[in-house]
Amino acid sequence: MPRLRPYVDSDWEAVLDISLLAFTPACESLGRLSGTESPARVDPDWRTSVGTYLRSLTRPRERGRLFVAEAQGSVVGFVHYEVDPNTHCGSIGVSAVRPARQGQGIGTLMYAHVLDAMRAQGVKYATADTEGNGSHASARRVYEKLGFVAVPMVHYFKSLATSGPAAAGRPARRGSPSGSGARKRRRVPRASRR
Ligand SMILES: CC(C)(COP(=O)(O)OP(=O)(O)OC[C@H]1O[C@@H](n2cnc3c(N)ncnc32)[C@H](O)[C@@H]1OP(=O)(O)O)[C@@H](O)C(=O)NCCC(=O)NCCS
Repeated sequence: MPRLRPYVDSDWEAVLDISLLAFTPACESLGRLSGTESPARVDPDWRTSVGTYLRSLTRPRERGRLFVAEAQGSVVGFVHYEVDPNTHCGSIGVSAVRPARQGQGIGTLMYAHVLDAMRAQGVKYATADTEGNGSHASARRVYEKLGFVAVPMVHYFKSLATSGPAAAGRPARRGSPSGSGARKRRRVPRASRR
C-alpha cells in the first residue's frame, strides 16, 4: 500500500503528469456538457491553467498541506487541503491518482490522511467540492465512503460565443401572441371582493 508524505520539489513532474492525465476526462466531459466540441473551447489553455494552479500550491505557505502518495518509489497520487482559521472548517482541494492506479484504494487513503491532518489541527468540519458528472463518480464515491454527505447545488453554464435568447423574463406561453400582457385577468365576483 502507498504511503503518504509531504510534497518535495522533486515530485513536481509526477504531480503535473498525474494531473494532466487524470483531469483530461473531466475537461472533455465539460466540453461535451457545454455543447462545445472540445475542452479547448472552454479553456483553450487548461493544461497551463492546471500547471499554474498546482505550482501555486508548492509555494512555501501552501506546500505544508500538499501530500503525495508514494508506492515503490513512484508518486501515484497527490492531495491538497485548506483550513479556514476563522471557521475551523477544512476543505479537501485538488487531488488525483494516476489513472493506471485508480480504483485501488489510494484516493481513500489520501483523503483519510488529510482528514486526520485536519483533525490534528483542531478542524471541526470538512467540505469537499466535486462535479456531478460521470468523470467525478469515483471522487463522489470516495467522499461518501468517508462519511461526507452531499449538499445538492446547481452550477449553470452558458456559452456566450453564439447569440441566443437574451431577454430575461417570463417565456412566451403557447398560443399567446406575445407571451406577455395577453393573459386575461380573471374577474373576481363583486360579492367576494373585500
Ligand atoms: C477521485 C480519485 C482521486 C479517487 O482515487 P482512487 O484511487 O480511484 O479512489 P479509491 O480506489 O480509493 O476509490 C474509488 C471508488 O470509486 C469507485 N468508482 C470508480 N469508478 C466509479 C464509477 N464510475 N461510478 C461509481 N463509483 C466508481 C470505486 O469502485 C471505488 O469505490 P469502492 O472502494 O467502494 O469500490 C481518482 O479517481 C481520480 O484521480 N479521479 C480523477 C480526478 C478527480 O476526480 N479528482 C477529484 C476531484 S479534484
